Amino acid sequence: MSQQIEENSVKQLTLHWLYGLDEYFTHINHPQLEKYLAIKNALIHENIWKMQELAMSEVYRGPTENTEEFFHIIFSRLTGYENVTHRKVLNYISHCVDDDFLRRISYWSSLCEKKANFNDHFSRGQIKSKIWLIEELNKILDNKNIGTLVHYGGWYATIAYFLFNNFNIDQYYNIEADEECIWIGDEFNYPQYNASWKYKGIHMDVNEIKYTNNSFTAYTQNKQSEVIELDIKPNFILNTSCEHMDETWYNNLPEGSIVALQTNNYFSNEQHINCVGGIEEAIAKYPMSEVYYSGELDTQLYTRFMVIGKK
Ligand SMILES: C[S@@+](CC[C@H](N)C(=O)[O-])C[C@H]1O[C@@H](n2cnc3c(N)ncnc32)[C@H](O)[C@@H]1O
Repeated sequence: MSQQIEENSVKQLTLHWLYGLDEYFTHINHPQLEKYLAIKNALIHENIWKMQELAMSEVYRGPTENTEEFFHIIFSRLTGYENVTHRKVLNYISHCVDDDFLRRISYWSSLCEKKANFNDHFSRGQIKSKIWLIEELNKILDNKNIGTLVHYGGWYATIAYFLFNNFNIDQYYNIEADEECIWIGDEFNYPQYNASWKYKGIHMDVNEIKYTNNSFTAYTQNKQSEVIELDIKPNFILNTSCEHMDETWYNNLPEGSIVALQTNNYFSNEQHINCVGGIEEAIAKYPMSEVYYSGELDTQLYTRFMVIGKK
């Protein structure tokens, strides 16, 4: 038996994204935070008392078509991850914790589990940085009106969920160099994408954006794969991926553009080609005529820097 457990334990499934969701549930002080932490402690820290507690909850819930799967998940640190996937864990958590953002991720994971990088995208640092951005923007934007938001290098654009919830956004365009991110982001933001393209991903290198009279032209595809031309006049530029690209995108922005940007000092990540050593360096690298906010955030692994202002 103990040998069997050892063999199974070798099959690991990394669930770092549980730390990111921890940040989120703690931040909103979710009424079922304790339940969530019990799940995290069982699934990451191998806390057998929490496993027992969660198993008892399933007994009280009564047998359902999910019961067997939920037991596999609850005891996976001990029995192995043979039948456990990100999708299944998300499904289990959303049966235990009632939350709209979680439900969105859970549903979305059924579409993109094999393509999306859950651990990096919902890491503690990523979620903390996004919460920080929303908090600071809430202080700056009194009337909550954003208009047309263009997110440079927005990855899967899951932050759009919070931006749509907190601000009045007419259009949200995610300009992404990675083609795979287009459908993944569109699917995550389906309430805004499906009906009206209030959210839409665009496959494009942000350094190729050329402004004429504060507007630029971009091309994307509809569900029938027809190419659609868009004339985009941004009111707000967001770039949470500055460390991944040089400053061409910023230099090409029209003077007077309202920009929120984040970068970091995580030099050792090989995808990061343009980190900064501190907030002063960030301010110097992306010069603004007016700075509304600048600051730094410790994410444990690295420090993130944010500047919000007018170019
Ligand atoms: C891996 S993510 C990191 C995200 C960042 N820390 C955040 O919070 O959004 C970086 C994203 O920037 C995108 N990217 C990098 N260079 C780009 C460029 N020149 N144009 C558009 N997207 C770019 C990548 O495709 C990737 O999806």
